[in-house]
Amino acid sequence: MKKQILVVGGCGYIGTHMVKALLDAGYEVLTLDNLSTGHREFLPGGQFVFGDIRDSALLDKVFTGHTINAVMHFAALIEVRESVKLPLKYYQNNVSATINLLDAMARHNVDKFIFSSSAAVYGEPEYIPLDENHPCRPTNPYGRTKLMIEEVLSDTARTGKIKYTALRYFNAAGADNSGTIGENHTPESHLIPLVLQVALGKRDNITIFGSDHDTPDGTCIRDYVHVNDLAQAHLLALKALENGITKAAYNLGTSRGYSVLDVIKTARKITTNTIPARQAEKRQGDPAVLVASSEKAKKELGWHPQYENLDAIIESAWKWHQKQMIPNDATTG
Ligand code: UFG
Repeated sequence: MKKQILVVGGCGYIGTHMVKALLDAGYEVLTLDNLSTGHREFLPGGQFVFGDIRDSALLDKVFTGHTINAVMHFAALIEVRESVKLPLKYYQNNVSATINLLDAMARHNVDKFIFSSSAAVYGEPEYIPLDENHPCRPTNPYGRTKLMIEEVLSDTARTGKIKYTALRYFNAAGADNSGTIGENHTPESHLIPLVLQVALGKRDNITIFGSDHDTPDGTCIRDYVHVNDLAQAHLLALKALENGITKAAYNLGTSRGYSVLDVIKTARKITTNTIPARQAEKRQGDPAVLVASSEKAKKELGWHPQYENLDAIIESAWKWHQKQMIPNDATTG
């Protein structure tokens, strides 16, 4: 019998790419999503259950009705600024709900869990590139929710009840080359989709948050990692868990940093649009540079990201954005 993987949040940006990668790799997939931010119409296939992981009765039904081999958890709120304004919403959604999911897994003896963590667990970098030994001192509630769940997982793993891997994503970007799935947040706050929306005429300009950061061109540097490379890392982590290997946390990035200006210039080249930009104040809490060392994932999981440069990442995102007729949403930038 094929192994069925429960993908929680499988209708979201990274979730849809994960579902596609799992199906392509021959797994059976069951997606559970409350569609609060995800899009049912973009789910690439497999079975779908509508619902929320805070609903224990629903989780019992899901785990009783299916032979779940492992759980991948993508259902989280991800807006750093919102997390500062509405911390309880974040602790409810990202911490309480996840504990409820883990509890249901324990009741039904499902013991493999892959967790979407974040570079936000590190806080202000003490050195670059960030490796997994860097101290974790998150600077906002969003990052704290991710770190708290990593700690919950570590404590639970010690009881032998669970085997887990936490994958710390840097800046997820790009889209599947099929052009059928991609990034679609409402409202949008991420740099690459915003820049491409300007190129499509959906926004007048892109706002550059800060021009006096301690970087060569004064704008923030980030490590943009392709969403399909993230999905491949999950497949490798799943294989490792299936073989009984658990090593806790891995950074997922490309080890290459690009500034906000690099992103805008690359997008101008690819879209052949002028993409007007305007300067604004620094965004509070934005570290100047976040670049990952992903040596551990490469060495231990055998991860080899395919998209090592920004051009390829933005080209794939551009393909997706051109196909979308997403209505203008509230500008958050
Ligand atoms: N930026 C702009 N203008 C915009 C939007 C973003 O200049 O309109 C800048 C930001 O200041 C930042 C860079 O572009 O320097 C990237 O910003 P994003 O909002 O795209 O991504 P972040 O680096 O802020 O956040 C990402 C994830 C978070 C995660 C964080 C981990 O989206 O979920 O990485 O460090 F917490």
